[in-house]
Amino acid sequence: MSKNILHMLSPLRHMSPFDVNMALDAGYDAVVPYIDVKLEEVMPLVQDAMFSRPPKDAVHTAVFIGGKDAVLALDMLDQVRKTLLKPFEISAFADPAGSFTTAAAMVACVEKLLKEKKGRTLKGTKIVIFGATGPVGYTCGLIGAFEGAEVTVTARKAPDILAKAEEIKKRFDLDVKALDAGSPEKIRAALEGAEVALCCAAAGVQVLSKEDLASNKALLVAADVNAVPPYGVEGLNLHDYGVELSSGALGIGPLAIGDVKYKTESGLFQRMATSDKPLGLDFRDAFALARSFA
Ligand SMILES: NC(=O)c1ccc[n+]([C@@H]2O[C@H](COP(=O)([O-])OP(=O)(O)OC[C@H]3O[C@@H](n4cnc5c(N)ncnc54)[C@H](OP(=O)(O)O)[C@@H]3O)[C@@H](O)[C@H]2O)c1
Repeated sequence: MSKNILHMLSPLRHMSPFDVNMALDAGYDAVVPYIDVKLEEVMPLVQDAMFSRPPKDAVHTAVFIGGKDAVLALDMLDQVRKTLLKPFEISAFADPAGSFTTAAAMVACVEKLLKEKKGRTLKGTKIVIFGATGPVGYTCGLIGAFEGAEVTVTARKAPDILAKAEEIKKRFDLDVKALDAGSPEKIRAALEGAEVALCCAAAGVQVLSKEDLASNKALLVAADVNAVPPYGVEGLNLHDYGVELSSGALGIGPLAIGDVKYKTESGLFQRMATSDKPLGLDFRDAFALARSFA
């Protein structure tokens, strides 16, 4: 039986131990980290991984793309796709800072709660995302827009978040609205009229207070991925799923989302390790799988 080998590329100084552990626990026999990898170095690394094994072992060979930049990870995945040649095609999976699987889990949990408790789908739902310059918030924006939601992405500096919205338009031809949420007043204004609020700001940052939540009577669901106190949504606890907040909106906490995220990332590693054909996995595959766990 050929060994399953995973080459893990990161543009940063470290490969995340989280992803290393996950890959080994999901069934890889060997995982090899490559750090400080530049975009132009992806092609020669993939060629080395691809041409060193006979074609029958190609499906037992894979590349993982980490780092902390969702846009760079998508560019690196494109480079992998451009490099692959039949019959040597190997598999690839991008999940920078766990963001593709975390965002997939977050949106899948929201979708399930909307359906169960409000009889709603994501299509046409007004979603506002806080911390959307980060990879988790950015990817939530992408998934929401792909599902037909009316997405508003926000961050503390207008030029930064405008650039993210333009990138989404250029790469995927999807429209998302960008808003500056750089002060308590601007956060309140961005929240106004939203039906779903996704808090994706950095760990230990409270984004929405009880008063913010109460200011928006249209809010159906508030979800948070920050598991480090203070949490992103005041009054929302780590394991909450569908718990009614003081404003009446339903809350989803970071560890309810984390459970689905964990299963999704592990499941995608397992799928690559056991597939009989080469796979290229990104946030869309993560969302499809997260839906089955939510
Ligand atoms: N539950 C899980 O399974 C799971 C898994 C992975 C990650 N996470 C959590 O998901 C969240 C997002 O992860 P990420 O990697 O995308 O985060 P990140 O890049 O560390 O931060 C996201 C954004 O937060 C904003 N931010 C930073 N400091 C802030 C402050 N003091 N006030 C308001 N906004 C601030 C920044 O945007 P601007 O500076 O542009 O405003 C930043 O781009 C984090 O809390 C992380 O811990 C959870």
